Amino acid sequence: MNQMLRYIESELYMESAALNRIAEQVGTPFYCYSKANIEQQIASCKAAFNRLDATIHYAAKANSNLSILRMMAKAGLGADVVSVGELERVIIAGIPAEKVIFSGVGKRKDEMVAALNAGIGQFNLESIPELDALILLCESLNKTAGVSVRINPDVDGSTHRHITTGVKGSKFGISMEQLDQALSRIGESAHLQLRGLAVHIGSQIVTAAPYRKVCERLRDWIVNLRRAGHAITHLDLGGGFGIDYGDGNYLDFESVATVMHETLQGLDNLQIAIEPGRSIVGNAGVLVSAVIFRKEDDPLPFLILDAGMNDLMRPALYQASHPIQPLLERKVEMEVVNVVGPICESTDFFSKAITLPKIAQGERVALLQAGAYGAVMASIYNSRDIIPEVMVDGDRFETIRRRITNHNLLEFE
Ligand SMILES: Cc1ncc(COP(=O)(O)O)c(C=O)c1O
Repeated sequence: MNQMLRYIESELYMESAALNRIAEQVGTPFYCYSKANIEQQIASCKAAFNRLDATIHYAAKANSNLSILRMMAKAGLGADVVSVGELERVIIAGIPAEKVIFSGVGKRKDEMVAALNAGIGQFNLESIPELDALILLCESLNKTAGVSVRINPDVDGSTHRHITTGVKGSKFGISMEQLDQALSRIGESAHLQLRGLAVHIGSQIVTAAPYRKVCERLRDWIVNLRRAGHAITHLDLGGGFGIDYGDGNYLDFESVATVMHETLQGLDNLQIAIEPGRSIVGNAGVLVSAVIFRKEDDPLPFLILDAGMNDLMRPALYQASHPIQPLLERKVEMEVVNVVGPICESTDFFSKAITLPKIAQGERVALLQAGAYGAVMASIYNSRDIIPEVMVDGDRFETIRRRITNHNLLEFE
């Protein structure tokens, strides 16, 4: 839960700012983030992974708003990016290029050129054709690239099937059967500098067990690879640490760091990296929305919000649920309702059969834990606006991305 959210005299506050006050100025729906919560998460991540002396590369895909990336830069974090757009953003935000890792299965040539020209620290290679393409580009530009091989360790993160990335048959990483080939190609090229191995087994993982399993495998592989003469100096363990979406399940930094530390002990001269995204920003954000209509229906009433699946896609995409709280706390009866958006899709729902205090038409609600994979996934489906993002700092707030309206977008047509 976001400890920065609480009711003060029946009004829901983020830090010391009443969300209703912000809603009146900004208009609903909008995303709202707590600066203090993000700072707190960065600090506890750093503290937990200190024992591994790990470098932290914030996964920009979770939330790539410049103001948030600037916070990562200020805290000395690196970044994990998956596109030239994210690369541009992290550089503008002030994250040094050498602290940037470039992941992703389909890096285009222009993206690799931009990354080489920026001088990023590490490419995580996900296929042999990608490796070959990078060698050719490095040769033509006369550049050297630091590379790690992202392997598919075939470990199930036990998370939703759409966010499992490290099992056989998933598109991510190079299979163990092709690892030798990849490493020899790297060894033969004067333009690639091998750093080591990388994994990312999935997202929203709520137990440390899959990390233990993957680290045990990696430990053995690294020992063998080093024996075979490969200079493995870096190990990137990805992100995926789950947050509490209201069911009480999450993975805290301490537990996962402890497991990594225990299993990797004894491997000397190995620089560990992690790429957390959701766990840094997920709890910090809420999506504030107003109830357009309250539709009484059988068997359950509907609360029809002005936010839809185009604003927050996670429920439609992975059956995710976000706790919902009214902005005004009132002594009313509880009821079971369906909470949906206005989009013409039956997947446009936020919660089915959820128990909430009775909420009236026109009231505002907050969908919690919406700081990660929320605003970044927004679309203009149904010709809707891209909604604003706001950052709260104490009792002050600032719009950190203005509304992008349909009128703005019409200019491109
Ligand atoms: C390669 C890579 N690293 C890091 C992350 C961040 O994951 P999370 O936000 O769950 O920490 C992702 C997200 O799926 C990813 O694909």
